[in-house]
Amino acid sequence: MENIKLSIDKAFGFVSQEAVAAYQAQVENANKMLEEGTGKGNDFLGWLHLPSSIDAAHLMDIENTAKVLKDNCEVVVVIGIGGSYLGAKAVIDALSNSFDWLQTERKNPIVVYAGQNIGEDYLYELQELLKNKKFGIISISKSGTTTEPALAFRLLKTQLEEQRGKEAAKKLIVCITDKARGALRTLATQEGYKTFVIEDNIGGRFSVLSPVGLLPIAVAGFDVRSLVEGALFMEKHCGTETPFAENPACQYAAVRNELYKSGKKIEILVNFHPKLHYVSEWWKQLYGESEGKDGKGIYPASVDFTTDLHSMGQWIQDGERSIFETVISVKEPNHTKIFPHDDANLDGLNFLAGKRVDEVNKMAELGTMLAHVDGGVPNLKIELPKLNEYYLGQLIYFFERACGISGYVLGVNPFDQPGVEAYKKNMFALLEKPGYEEATKAIKARL
Ligand code: PA5
Repeated sequence: MENIKLSIDKAFGFVSQEAVAAYQAQVENANKMLEEGTGKGNDFLGWLHLPSSIDAAHLMDIENTAKVLKDNCEVVVVIGIGGSYLGAKAVIDALSNSFDWLQTERKNPIVVYAGQNIGEDYLYELQELLKNKKFGIISISKSGTTTEPALAFRLLKTQLEEQRGKEAAKKLIVCITDKARGALRTLATQEGYKTFVIEDNIGGRFSVLSPVGLLPIAVAGFDVRSLVEGALFMEKHCGTETPFAENPACQYAAVRNELYKSGKKIEILVNFHPKLHYVSEWWKQLYGESEGKDGKGIYPASVDFTTDLHSMGQWIQDGERSIFETVISVKEPNHTKIFPHDDANLDGLNFLAGKRVDEVNKMAELGTMLAHVDGGVPNLKIELPKLNEYYLGQLIYFFERACGISGYVLGVNPFDQPGVEAYKKNMFALLEKPGYEEATKAIKARL
């Protein structure tokens, strides 16, 4: 059976093979620190053996809960922000029909999102859409106190109770939060909602294989068992027993740290399938929040090709040479589309007749990679044999493990996010939240 494959040869020439190989001891040590729990942030390593610790009863609970929502809802609103929604959206978008929202004959509810912004128009328009619709809510917040999802939950819970009645609404709300702490836990206990726990030792951005990701993915109709199986394969393959040269997480961590050291400060995650857009958003959070601290860290950016070749392509080919690319390539699409012959050939495209559209896409991918390498952009490639649950599970765990290793090599704590608190403090002070009186005075003096 094929597995996802990392190729780093198109980075050589920018950094030497020897320099990357020289990371072996450091990278293996970082991987060991993860395994033995001896590094910074070691109280947040619950994700490390999550795939192998998920048992049949847990998966059954997820699937049964998903079935209640599937049987009773046309729409399920996943409420959460950051790590509490990006993983689910990444997987659901990658596996869904590109025009999912237009499909009239549905086997599964449509999944929409709230609590990931505070846009008044967004919330107004969502609530209008949900009027007279049978909808349910999955409310996700590890801390149970994050403002954006809490605000959305109050609005949508009220609407659901008005539309279905308080008792019926109870069966259509599932909360995923801390086992004891936080306002969401208190509320769920008092109202008697079905709940799942986010374990203390799993940070938001590493939580996609917990109920945070698995429940919404199951509601959307996808196979969470296969997703977990794929992750389990990578848990073993990226572990400390796999030698450096064959360990994709170790190789990725080594090459990106060497590229960073050589002045490549920005990593652009590239896809050639627009369904992968949110995989990049999830990846950006994973690497940005994990590595961007203490004045250090590769800036994670992303583009969707070939679309963005017609916009950002100029910058990538020709702008400041501070970037490298990591291309996610899908070997075999799920559908076949043969380009037709046209006798008149007015568009001059008969040279493509009989070819698959994917062949054109693949040549765009290869041509772009060669052009960018020629233009001074190192290229890494991660090939997925297919876009399905199993390989997405592999990809997720590979990126998580490599992120932990890479963060340790960089010398940061990959599992905290002190920088995200600054805006919250100012926002609460400006909104005059009780308890923030001093901060309110101080911030008003600055205005
Ligand atoms: O990765 C993280 O820890 C963050 O992105 C959180 O997931 C995000 O801030 C949401 O936090 P919470 O789940 O506590 O509402």
